[in-house]
Amino acid sequence: MHPTKSTHTQVARTPIAGTQVAIVGAGPAGLFLSHLLHRQGIESIILEHRSREEIEGTIRAGVLEQWVVDLMNGMGLGDRMMREAHFHSGITLRFDRRSHHIDMAELTGGKRVTVYAQHEVIRDLVSSRLEDGGTILFGVSDVQFLDLDGKAPRVRFRRGPDGPVEELRCDFVAGCDGFHGPSRQAIPTATRNEYQMVYPFGWLGILTEAPPSHPELIYANHERGFALLSTRSPEVQRLYIQVDPKDDIANWSDDRIWSELHRRLEDDSGWTLTEGPIFQKGIIAMRSFVCDPMQHGRLFIAGDAAHIVPPTGAKGLNLAVADVLVLSRALTAYYRSGTTEGLDGYSATCLRRIWKAERFSWYMTTMLHRNERESPFEQRVHLAELDYLVQSRAAMTALAENYVGLPME
Ligand code: FAD
Ligand code: DHB
Repeated sequence: MHPTKSTHTQVARTPIAGTQVAIVGAGPAGLFLSHLLHRQGIESIILEHRSREEIEGTIRAGVLEQWVVDLMNGMGLGDRMMREAHFHSGITLRFDRRSHHIDMAELTGGKRVTVYAQHEVIRDLVSSRLEDGGTILFGVSDVQFLDLDGKAPRVRFRRGPDGPVEELRCDFVAGCDGFHGPSRQAIPTATRNEYQMVYPFGWLGILTEAPPSHPELIYANHERGFALLSTRSPEVQRLYIQVDPKDDIANWSDDRIWSELHRRLEDDSGWTLTEGPIFQKGIIAMRSFVCDPMQHGRLFIAGDAAHIVPPTGAKGLNLAVADVLVLSRALTAYYRSGTTEGLDGYSATCLRRIWKAERFSWYMTTMLHRNERESPFEQRVHLAELDYLVQSRAAMTALAENYVGLPME
């Protein structure tokens, strides 16, 4: 492979006929990648299926690892986050009606838990990329990949559902299109290994107009199932309860949700949960999933397109950013000196971190949820794990190191 500074625009049918890196998907992976490449003078165009309003309004993750916060600040993207995010020194684990504070900052040399909603990150990244002159095409459909094995791959698409078919020529394709997007399927099945575990529970998440009930996140293991108290702003709180993933949200009245939250979250200290009107609610299923390799020819997949974690460890968004940081470094080295070492090693480098995050997310999930398919013996082992954890500085440090984010290689 040789670096080719893109000159496609000079011969293009339309102004967007060519770029260096075609990015499919404007989630955290695609947007961070576009910013990171722009800072290195590498052109990209993002093709996004949904509208700007939709991507900026979808409620998802909430917790940023410390290095992601540092990265956003280092890129000049952190002003609103530093004003509006919530910075906590740790989390509370609650089980057997007792509460235990895990002081992550003290255990990790100052790394904190940052609560800043994913859609706020998306808003910051979209507006700044557009201000920089970046191109994000919203509402595209029928994305197809051509010549991924050659030196000049192309991405075919339509603008809107009915626009004419257009072709974007590029040097590389970054598949940042989430779990259900087409890019992973473009890796031939003969070379694609997929590892998966589906959990027999899901999360019912709500947003409520209420003041914070507690100064930090509470993760609760209760005999009725897991519950999580998180926050969004001084006026809006985010809470989750473990439910059957096949359950219908229509079965969950606001009263039923509050009753379950009270029962699962209360402890013996007299602490109370503050209620408010619920203005958003939904159920998500939970799975662990890894695709190996994450590349094929000139296609590189990143984020949820390549892997899924259950949300308990708050790793999904952070892993997506880690992938594209690795990819941006590899592409930068390629365009600077022609070396393909970073690109060739992309999957292996990413997967080392991904498997550690998969392990941590699985560990947090199995330890904190009630799984009716497990034997009473296995359920007691999880409680012993929690009991050990809160008494052992070594165990708490291991949890804290993983939660605030392992160092980037
Ligand atoms: P995504 O955010 O999924 O972005 C992919 C983008 O690609 C989307 O905008 C999509 O519209 C676009 N796209 C898809 N197909 C196409 C196509 N054919 N053409 C063009 N564009 C396409 N993580 C946590 O840590 N905590 C949570 O509480 C949490 N809650 C979640 C709730 C839900 C419902 C989901 C789905 C995920 C949740 N996650 C959570 C995970 C976290 O949000 C993801 O890990 C993160 O969004 C991954 O970013 P991404 O950029 O890889 O993918
Ligand atoms: C949130 C989501 C998580 O998955 C988590 O572990 C902690 C907080 C949240 O949405 O605030």
